[in-house]
Amino acid sequence: MSKRTEIKTVLTEYTDLLGQEVTVMGWVRSFRSNRFIALNDGTSMNTLQVVVDFEQFDEAVLKKVTFHACIKVTGKLVESQGAGQDVEVLAESLEILGEANPEQYPMQPKAQSMEFMREKAHFRMRTNTFTAVFRIRHGVAYAIHKYFNDNGYFYLHTPIITGSDAEGAGEMFHVTTLDVGNPPRTEDGQVDWSQDFFEKPTNLTVSGQLQAEIGALALGKVYTFGPTFRAENSNTSRHLAEFWMIEPEIAFFDIFDNMGLAEDFCKYLIRHILDNYPDELDFLDQRIQNQEKNLPKEQRRPMGLTETLRFVADNDFERITYTEAVRILRNSKPYKKGKFEYDVEWGKDLQAEHERYLVEKHFQKPVIVRDYPASIKAFYMRLNEENPEVPGRTVAAMDVLFPGIGEVIGGSQREERYEVLVQRMHDMGIPEEELWWYLELRKFGGCPHAGFGLGFERMVQFITGMGNIRDVIGFPRTPGNAEF
Ligand code: 4AD
Ligand code: MG
Repeated sequence: MSKRTEIKTVLTEYTDLLGQEVTVMGWVRSFRSNRFIALNDGTSMNTLQVVVDFEQFDEAVLKKVTFHACIKVTGKLVESQGAGQDVEVLAESLEILGEANPEQYPMQPKAQSMEFMREKAHFRMRTNTFTAVFRIRHGVAYAIHKYFNDNGYFYLHTPIITGSDAEGAGEMFHVTTLDVGNPPRTEDGQVDWSQDFFEKPTNLTVSGQLQAEIGALALGKVYTFGPTFRAENSNTSRHLAEFWMIEPEIAFFDIFDNMGLAEDFCKYLIRHILDNYPDELDFLDQRIQNQEKNLPKEQRRPMGLTETLRFVADNDFERITYTEAVRILRNSKPYKKGKFEYDVEWGKDLQAEHERYLVEKHFQKPVIVRDYPASIKAFYMRLNEENPEVPGRTVAAMDVLFPGIGEVIGGSQREERYEVLVQRMHDMGIPEEELWWYLELRKFGGCPHAGFGLGFERMVQFITGMGNIRDVIGFPRTPGNAEF
């Protein structure tokens, strides 16, 4: 197999290879006129044209050159006679590595619905759309590590199984080896967790933040990048039960430093993809235009995909407080005409429809909203000073909102004052015993610090323009779905 040349190499570095024999392997995208095979091996958006002289090949072999069959071809690389490609391979030998009988193979060489493709997650990755998405997903992951490494951050691995609920929202998957149908009980009838594997109740992590704070208070600047799990019953195009999160945490950072980092980081990731994946972006851009061509103008995206990414990378994000956001929303046309499903009132959380109005209609650019009411945000967020112009107490929280997606980042300055934190936990019903170590971080060598969490799939969704978050992760986990 080592003689294989990757198709990307053949297509981009062909000057050295012209006139020579090459061996390529890949999956058939199409076979036209019993003569032209379009071959793709996943290394590039583009296919390599293989030309076969059908008289020279066994008919039984050529019959097996079907959609997504896997083949090996050896032949001379020559300049192409036809339009559409610079080079092509004149097949001298052709071997079928893996058949794909079209009468049984569920994928078809035509547009198929995204819902259908999700049921065929073991095959959908071979399509143009998904190879483009997954190459970009890789590119974003790489850029994340590069950004932090180049800026002096340390990658910290936080636990997947934990005894604490970092968000205090109770949306956790429990982890146990007890017989759930018949667990051991204590004398008073409670489940006897002391007999469980960890001798206490545990769950899959909803966030690595609390442990990242431990890291920040020793290494200064850290980040996590790992899977997180939320048992929230949200069947939307932006929610997964298992998703990846990036959580930088930085000592001596306040909320404004945090906002600056979030904006710089997002722009860096977008620029990295603009610079390194133009073919994938062009393809996805075209795909969106095809999908939208029959929609009325007001339902189409205001800009193309690449144009949107450039715009976000090159312009300042808008920064407003929650209190200003509420004022803008209450003065808005949809609010006055009763078009919002949910009410807007100081103290209530902003809903997706409100976030989208701010980003897509009012500002038409990414927006960072900060200083949310303390009552709707997590216990660890730093309590702001009282402000007579604001109806209630706020915390130094921030959400970064993106067009088409809504919230991509949630973060805050952390409450570093021991007494204030204990009071907040008490008020919100968070047991102190569970987070004794988190509290001790405030007692011994604590300092002001801040951080945020970027939803990896939401960022990939934004960059690829995919309509549903389930189509930017290989094997989506959502309520009722854990196949593959
Ligand atoms: O806003 P969240 O819940 O914040 C935290 O978990 C903090 N501990 C982060 C921190 O400060 N270190 O989640 C952060 C981001 C959201 O902005 C969103 O992009 C994404 O994670 N996210 C989800 N993505 C997909 N599916 C879900 N169910 C998500 N829930 C949150
Ligand atoms: Mg949030």
